[in-house]
Amino acid sequence: MDYLEIEGGNKLSGTVDIAGAKNAALPILALTILCQNEVKICNLPPVFDIKTMLSLLENLGATYTYQDDCATVDASTVHNTEAKYDIVRKMRASILTLGPLLTRFGHCEVSLPGGCAIGQRPIDLHLKALEQMGAHIEIKQGYVVASAPDGLKGTTIIFDKITVTGSENIIMAAALAKGETKIINAAKEPEVVQLCEILNDHGVLIKGIGSDELIIHGRDRTLLNIPEITVIPDRIEAGTYLCAGAITNSQITLNKVNHSHLISTILKLQEMGFDFDLHEESITIKPSAKILHANIATTEYPGFPTDMQAQFMALALQADGTSIIEERLFENRFMHVSELTRMGAVIQLNNNIATVEGNHSLNGADVMATDLRASSALVLAALVANGTTRVHRIYHLDRGYVSLEKKLQQLGAKIKRLKE
Ligand code: EPZ
Repeated sequence: MDYLEIEGGNKLSGTVDIAGAKNAALPILALTILCQNEVKICNLPPVFDIKTMLSLLENLGATYTYQDDCATVDASTVHNTEAKYDIVRKMRASILTLGPLLTRFGHCEVSLPGGCAIGQRPIDLHLKALEQMGAHIEIKQGYVVASAPDGLKGTTIIFDKITVTGSENIIMAAALAKGETKIINAAKEPEVVQLCEILNDHGVLIKGIGSDELIIHGRDRTLLNIPEITVIPDRIEAGTYLCAGAITNSQITLNKVNHSHLISTILKLQEMGFDFDLHEESITIKPSAKILHANIATTEYPGFPTDMQAQFMALALQADGTSIIEERLFENRFMHVSELTRMGAVIQLNNNIATVEGNHSLNGADVMATDLRASSALVLAALVANGTTRVHRIYHLDRGYVSLEKKLQQLGAKIKRLKE
C-alpha cells in the first residue's frame, strides 16, 4: 500500500487545473444504461471510483473505451441486470444503477451497498420511491431484488430527507417511466442539476431544474440518444485546494472551476479573512493577515457542504480562536478528529458538534486515512505541521482526488508518494 510523506512549513504558489466532478460523473455513467447509442463522456476524473463504475457497466454487458479524460460507453448491449456484491462493496454509488436497470428492463438485482465509514447510509428512501412508482422490492441475501414487469409509472414522490443519489436514482427511473413523476424535496446539488439538464436536452422534459420540486415526463421505456456529455468541474476538489492555499496562507489559482458551485465555501473562507479574484473559469485565493475563526453547520446544497467539513476543520486549527463545527448529514463524519489530535490538535467532540481550538501548532506524525475527505484534511494539516507527517491508507484519497500529491508538488508542497 502507498502512503504520503509530507514536510510541513512550505508556502504554496502557482496554479492547478481542477478535474471533472466524481459525483457528477458517477450518475452520468449510470445514465448510459438508458441510452440506445454509445455516449462519449469527457472531463472524467481518472479516479478509482470511475474505473469501478466502468467495470460495473462492463459486467452488466456494456462496452467502453477510455482514453485521456474521455470514455465512450455503449450500454445498448447491456443484458445482465445483476450488480454484483464484489463490485458494489467497493463503491456504494453503484446503487445508481438500480433506477436505470429497473426502468429499462423491468427487473434487476443490485447488491445492497453495505456500511460505510461515515455512517450507516441507508437506501430506504430510494426503495420507497421506486415502490411508489409500482416496483415490487425484496431484500434477498443482501441484494435488492426489484421488479416492475409493466414498467414504472409516474407518481408524486416526497422525500422525507434530501438525498443526492436517491434523487438521481428516481430522476433516471422517471425518465423511462410511463407518465409524469413529481419529486418533492429533491436534492439541488450541481451534480443533480447537470443530470437533469442532460436528460432535458435529450428528450426527457423536466420542469423545475435546480429547484427542490421536479416534474419529469417519462418516455415509457423509449431509450435515449445522447451523443456527448462533458462533466462539470469538481467543486469539492476545488474547495480542498482553496483550503490548501488558505491553511498555508498562500496565493494560488485554480483553473477549470465553476465558482458558482463554490459560493458557500468561498463565503466561509471570506468570513475567515481570505479574499479572492474571480475570473471566467478560474479563482485565485489571496493570503490573509490572520485566519479568523468561524462556525460551520453542514447542510444540503447550496449550504455548506458536508464534503468540505473535514478540510475546514484542519483550517480552523490555524484560526485565531475557537470554531464550532456541526455535522448535520452523517452520524460518523468526525473520524479525522482522532488523527488530527495525534498531530497536536485540541478538539472537543460532543455528538455531532466539534469544538475546534485554534492557535495550536501541529506536529508531524504517522496518521491513518479513514475516508475520502478525512484523508484530505490530514494532508492539509500536514502542510503546516512542524516536521514530517506520513498519511497511511491513501487508497481512500485515490477514490476521489486525481494525483493529489502531484498537484500539491506543482504548487510547491514537499510531498511524495512512497510504498509501505
Ligand atoms: C452523496 O452521497 C455524495 N456521494 C456524498 O459524497 C455526499 O457526502 C452526500 O451526497 C451528501 O452531500 C455521491 O454523490 C456519489 P445522501 P449520498 O443520500 O447520496 C440519509 C464524497 O465524499 N439517507 O444525500 O449517499 C443519509 O444517511 C461522498 O464524495 C437516508 O436516510 O448521500 C444521510 O444522512 C461522501 N436514506 C443523508 O440522508 C436514504 O435512502 C444524506 O445522504 C438515503 C439517504
